[in-house]
Amino acid sequence: MLYRSLAWQGDALGELRLLDQTRLPGETIYRHCTTIEQVWQAIRELCVRGAPAIGVSAAYGVVLGVRAFVHPTLETVKQATNYLRTSRPTAVNLFWALDRMDAAAEKYFHKPEGQLIELLLATAQDIEDEDVETSRSIGEFGSHLIPDGGGVLTHCNTGALATAEYGTALAAIIMAWEQGKRFTVFADETRPLLQGARLTAWELQQHGIPCTLICDNMAAQVMREGKVQLAIVGADRIAANGDTANKIGTYGVAILCNYHKLPFFVAAPQSTFDLNLADGTGIPIEQRHADEITQAFGKRTAPVDVAIYNPAFDVTPASLISGIVTEHGIIQPVNAEEIARRLR
Ligand code: MRU
Repeated sequence: MLYRSLAWQGDALGELRLLDQTRLPGETIYRHCTTIEQVWQAIRELCVRGAPAIGVSAAYGVVLGVRAFVHPTLETVKQATNYLRTSRPTAVNLFWALDRMDAAAEKYFHKPEGQLIELLLATAQDIEDEDVETSRSIGEFGSHLIPDGGGVLTHCNTGALATAEYGTALAAIIMAWEQGKRFTVFADETRPLLQGARLTAWELQQHGIPCTLICDNMAAQVMREGKVQLAIVGADRIAANGDTANKIGTYGVAILCNYHKLPFFVAAPQSTFDLNLADGTGIPIEQRHADEITQAFGKRTAPVDVAIYNPAFDVTPASLISGIVTEHGIIQPVNAEEIARRLR
């Protein structure tokens, strides 16, 4: 692998190394986290981002939080997981990974004190390893959807940077390329934080895959001109009926695909499904700071005191989604019955 979003270095006394995604594409700089607070901050600031990568990082964050105590109790673990739950609200992978860390603590708590940290670290490593395998499977299943010739549109960043390795929607694109298919990727720049411009375009360049960067508001025109044949995106939380929260602007892409009669696919692991939510209305949508909209390139781009609304995610209704690519295969049609059947 050319680069990795995250890596635990060393034994239980080691550290979590994060590739600082706020500095890409200009600089390749790593943050070395040795405390749970640093991991919380890294997630909040989008130094590490993308639903699966957030979950894996948080799992390692628990290890850092618990090992700060000489005599950790079950309550110590709960405090660590509850603290990390407050870092970002939408990607359910965060809560899924923290639930697993809580369950591991319950299971291993009777072990001698020193072993608890090591067993928590092993659980975090399992979560990371599973994410690598899962992403690889999603990439393989998804690669068959990618057309040979023409173009594919994607939104935000869903590559190796957003997971432990490979990615989800971008993994499908990269694997299709490796299979010999030839196409152009149209990457939405993804306002306001430009994950498409800064991260997806960068990742595709690392793989030598042609990428054409467009502003988000150009997607309709690109579709009308017949430049893309399919759109594929990732997800942060998928409700039981298939309604899908993903980066703000995804819903618009799905509507455009529907209008232009183009397939619109979502790629995500099972850990991104929240089967406790019947539909997308209950998905919490992160609201981010106004500065992300009022400033660009270090310069103010809006009048002082203008009102700002900055939701970081939107929800695409299941009816607009052609299929969901998971590690178990492609769920199609997207509805509650089929999702329950495939994820059983
Ligand atoms: O705010 P971000 O950059 O964490 O948002 C990321 C996305 O919306 C991704 O599309 C999603 O997490 C899937 S990543 C495989």
